[in-house]
Amino acid sequence: MSKRRRIYEGKAKVLYEGPEPGTLVQHFKDDATAFNAEKHDVIEGKGVLNNRISEYIFLQLAQIGIQTHFIKALNMREQLIREAEIVPLEVVIRNVAAGSLVKRLGLKEGEPLPRPLIEFYYKDDALGDPLISEDHIAVFGWATQNELDEIMTIAVRINDFLIGLFAGAGIRLVDFKLEFGRVWERDVQRIILADEISPDNCRLWDINSNKKLDKDRFRQDLGGLVDAYQEVARRLGIFSSNGHDGKKGPVLVS
Ligand code: TMP
Repeated sequence: MSKRRRIYEGKAKVLYEGPEPGTLVQHFKDDATAFNAEKHDVIEGKGVLNNRISEYIFLQLAQIGIQTHFIKALNMREQLIREAEIVPLEVVIRNVAAGSLVKRLGLKEGEPLPRPLIEFYYKDDALGDPLISEDHIAVFGWATQNELDEIMTIAVRINDFLIGLFAGAGIRLVDFKLEFGRVWERDVQRIILADEISPDNCRLWDINSNKKLDKDRFRQDLGGLVDAYQEVARRLGIFSSNGHDGKKGPVLVS
C-alpha cells in the first residue's frame, strides 16, 4: 500500500491527505482517552464502531438538510471527508445533567434540564479545553457573531433530531459534543458539521435502566465499552443481529 501523507493526528482519529484536493481521509483509531489524555487505553473494535455509527448519523443529518463534512464511507475504519477549517470550539449540548455540569454546579446526575443548554469550550488541549462564554468567542475572534448564530441554530436542530433518533432506539440522549468547520463555496463561506458523532462524544443512557452506553464506561472504569457501542449500533440498525450488515469486509464478532 502506498504511504499516505498524514495531515493531523488526534487522540482518537488520524487525518490523511485525500485523493482529491479539498478532501481528507478520516481514520478512526482504537485509542480511548479521558481527562485530557491522562487516562489512555486501546480498545479493540472501538474505531470500527465509531466510524460506522458516525457515518450513519451524519447521513441521517444530511437527509434533514444539515451540511456535514462526510462524503462517503471508504472502509470499516475510514471515511472520505471535506477538508474544512475547524472552528476552535467544542460545542456541548445538554438535555440532562451529567458529567462536568453536575460537578461544576452541584446538580444531581440524571436531572432533566428545563431546556437544552448549549456550552462552548475553547479547543486547546494545552489549556484543557476551558469553558468559555459567547463574549470570549467574540472578543478573541474565534468565530464571528454570524457564525456563532449559525452554529447554535444547527446545534439545536441536531439535538432535536438526535433526541428522536435515539429515543426510537430506546436511548436517552443526555448530552453530546459537536465541532464545526468553515468551507468556501465560490465566494461564500459556510459552516458545516465536522468531526464525529459517536458514543465517544455523546452520553447515551438506556431509556429504561439508565445503563450507560457511551465513553463513560471507560472514564468511570465500568468495563464493557465495546459491548455498549455494539448495542448502540445494533439498536440503530447499523449491524444486523448476526453482526453482518451485508457489506463486504471483516465481520464484527462480539
Ligand atoms: P462533560 O460533561 O465532561 O463536559 O462532557 C459533555 C459532553 O461532551 C459528553 O457527551 C462528552 C463530550 N466530550 C467530548 O466529546 N470531548 C471532551 O473532551 C469532553 C470533555 C467531553
